[in-house]
Amino acid sequence: MATGNDAERPVALVTAAAGAGIGSAIARRLAADGMDVVITDIHEVRAAKLAAELEQEHGRPFTSLVVDVVDFDAVGAAVERVVAERGSLDVLVNNAGWSKIEPVAEMSPETWRRCLDVDLTGTFNCMRHALPPMIERRRGSIVNISSIAGWEPTDEHGAAYSAAKAGVMALTRVAAAEVGRHGVRVNAVAPGLIYNDFLRKIYPDEFFSGYAESRSKVGRIGQPQDVAALVSFLVGEEAGYITGEVYGISGGVFPHS
Ligand SMILES: NC(=O)c1ccc[n+]([C@@H]2O[C@H](COP(=O)([O-])OP(=O)(O)OC[C@H]3O[C@@H](n4cnc5c(N)ncnc54)[C@H](O)[C@@H]3O)[C@@H](O)[C@H]2O)c1
Repeated sequence: MATGNDAERPVALVTAAAGAGIGSAIARRLAADGMDVVITDIHEVRAAKLAAELEQEHGRPFTSLVVDVVDFDAVGAAVERVVAERGSLDVLVNNAGWSKIEPVAEMSPETWRRCLDVDLTGTFNCMRHALPPMIERRRGSIVNISSIAGWEPTDEHGAAYSAAKAGVMALTRVAAAEVGRHGVRVNAVAPGLIYNDFLRKIYPDEFFSGYAESRSKVGRIGQPQDVAALVSFLVGEEAGYITGEVYGISGGVFPHS
C-alpha cells in the first residue's frame, strides 16, 4: 500500500468497489472529487486493476485491498491499516450486497443467512470498525447502499434481500442518532434498478426496455453514475446537516418519503 497523504485529501473506503456497477462508479466519482479512495473487494485482480486505472487517470497513488465484508476481523485489519498508513478514515461507503430470489416458503436457510451476512452484517462489520477512529477525530461520513427492496411490498426482490436492506435502513438511522454529536454522519441510499453489465448477462433485453418504458418515470434505467452522484453529495461538506436519512433513487419507480 502506498503511504502518505500529502494533499490532505479525505480518505474514503468503498466496499465491493471492483465490480461492474455502483461500487466502482462511487470509487471513480470520489476519486474525481479529489478523495484518496481505498478500493476494497473480494476480487483481488479487479480491485488492483481499478486502482491502477485511477492512478493512471489522476496521476496519484490509489490503494486496493482484498476485503470480504462478512469477515469481521479482516474488515478490522483493513480499517486499521488504512488509518495507520493514510492517517485517517473520513468516508465509508458500504456497497457490498448479495441476493438470491427464493420465495419464503421455499427459501433455504443458506440463502437467508448469506443475504443477511453480506448485506446487513457486512455493513455492520464495516461501521463497527470505522466508527471508533471517526469518532476519535470527530469527523466522518458513512453512506450505506440499501435498496427500494427494503420498502417495496413485492415478490420481485426476495424476502431475504428485502429484510436485509430494510435492516440497513434501521441500522443507518440508529447509528446516525448515536454518533451525530461526535461529528459523524450516517445516511443511506435506496436505489431502484441500476444498470450494469453483469445484470445484462442475467436478464433479457425486454427486462430493461420494459422497465425503462413502463416503470421508470423518467424513461430510462438508472446508471451507476446516478447513485455515485448522490453519494458524492451526501459524503460532502454541503450535506453537513443531513444525517439518519434514507434517499430513494429509482427514477420515480418507488418514491418514498
Ligand atoms: N444494481 C441494482 O439494480 C441495485 C439496486 C438496488 C440496490 N443495489 C445495491 O447496490 C450495491 C451494489 O450493487 P451492484 O449490482 O451495482 O454491484 P457492484 O458492481 O457495485 O458490486 C459487485 C462487487 O461486489 C463484490 N462483492 C461481492 N460480495 C462481496 C463481499 N462479501 N465482500 C466484498 N465484496 C464483495 C464483487 O466481487 C463485485 O466486484 C449492492 O449493495 C446492491 O444490493 C443494486
